[in-house]
Amino acid sequence: MNPLDDYFNDIISSVNKVIEDYIKGDIKELYEASYYLFKAGGKRLRPLILVSSSDLVGGERERAYLAGAAVEVLHTFTLIHDDIMDQDTLRRGMPTVHVKFGIPMAILAGDLLHAKAFQILNDSVKGLPSEKITKAFQIFTESIIIISEGQTLDMQFEGRNDVSEDEYMDMISKKTAKLFSASAALGGLIGGGDYKEVESLGKYGLYLGIAFQIIDDILGLTSTEEELGKPIYSDIREGKKTILVIKALKEAKEDERKIILMTLGNRKATREELSRAADIIRSYSLNYAYDLADRYYAMAIEALRSVRWRNEIAGKALNYLAEFTIKRRK
Ligand code: IPE
Ligand code: IPE
Ligand code: MG
Ligand code: MG
Repeated sequence: MNPLDDYFNDIISSVNKVIEDYIKGDIKELYEASYYLFKAGGKRLRPLILVSSSDLVGGERERAYLAGAAVEVLHTFTLIHDDIMDQDTLRRGMPTVHVKFGIPMAILAGDLLHAKAFQILNDSVKGLPSEKITKAFQIFTESIIIISEGQTLDMQFEGRNDVSEDEYMDMISKKTAKLFSASAALGGLIGGGDYKEVESLGKYGLYLGIAFQIIDDILGLTSTEEELGKPIYSDIREGKKTILVIKALKEAKEDERKIILMTLGNRKATREELSRAADIIRSYSLNYAYDLADRYYAMAIEALRSVRWRNEIAGKALNYLAEFTIKRRK
C-alpha cells in the first residue's frame, strides 16, 4: 500500500462531501443527471493537486476542500460537454450523460455544473483579502476561456491532416493542461503562497497536464475499455490529431499512411480497420510519445523544487501525482 494513500483518501472524501452538499436540488432529473458522473468514479486528480498545493504552502484545509470541489465540478462540466462533442458513449465505465439522459439534459447538467463551480469557488475564498479573491476568480475564469479555445482547436484539427507537433502542444496545453495549472496555482494562492510560488505551482500543473494528455492519447490506443472506462480507438474514428497520429503520419511508409488516412475520421470504420490502423500508428509513435511525456514530467518536478515546502508530505504527494500521471493505466 502506498504510504500516501491516507493523505489522498482524506482529501478525496472531504472533497466528495462538498460536492454532494452542493449538487442537489428539487428538480430530480436535472440533479440526477448532474450528479451522475461523480457517483460513477473518477480519479479526482485536480482537487488532489489543488489541496496538496495549498498544504505545501501551509494553507487551511476547509478552504482548500471547497476550492478543490470547485475545480472538480468544473472538470465534470467539461467532460459532459466533451462527450457530446466527441460523440462518445462511455465515461468512467458508465454510459455518458447524454446517452443516459439525452443531449438536452446533458447540456443543462453541464450548464448547472459550470455555475455551481463558481458558487463553490466563491465560498472557498470568503474572508481572504480582496486582491486574492480577484486573482482567484481571474485564474478560474481564464481557465474556462482557454479550455473553450483548446476544445475548438481540437475539433478544427479533425478536418486537417497537416497538424504540426507545435500545434498539438498548443491545443493540449489549452484543452487539458490549463485546468491542471489553474488547480495548482489556486491551491498556492488560497493557501498563502507568494506570487513566485503561485507561478511555479502553475508551471508544475501545466507541465504535468501536458504529460497527462500525452499519456491519455497513448492509453486511447493501448488500453482496454474495461480498464480505462472510456472508448478505445475513438480518437481515430473521430479524426483526432493526437501526438501518435501526427508522428505516424510523418514517419509511416506511403502504403501505411494510406491505411491510416482511410480510417482517420471515418465513423463507419470497422473494429478490424481501426485496430489495423492503430497497430501502424503505435509502431511509429509509442516510444516517441512516452519520451515526450517523460520530458514534461521532469519539468513538472523541477518547477516544484522552486517552491519552499512548508509540509513534507504535500511535496511528496505532488511528486507522486506527477509520477502517477505518466505511469497510470487509467
Ligand atoms: C479526462 O480526465 C479528460 C482529459 C483531460 C483527458 P481524467 O482522466 O482526469 O478523468 P477522470 O476525472 O479521472 O474521470
Ligand atoms: C480532454 O478531452 C479535455 C476536456 C475534456 C476539456 P478529450 O476528448 O481528449 O478527453 P477524453 O478522452 O474524452 O477523456
Ligand atoms: Mg473526449
Ligand atoms: Mg474531446
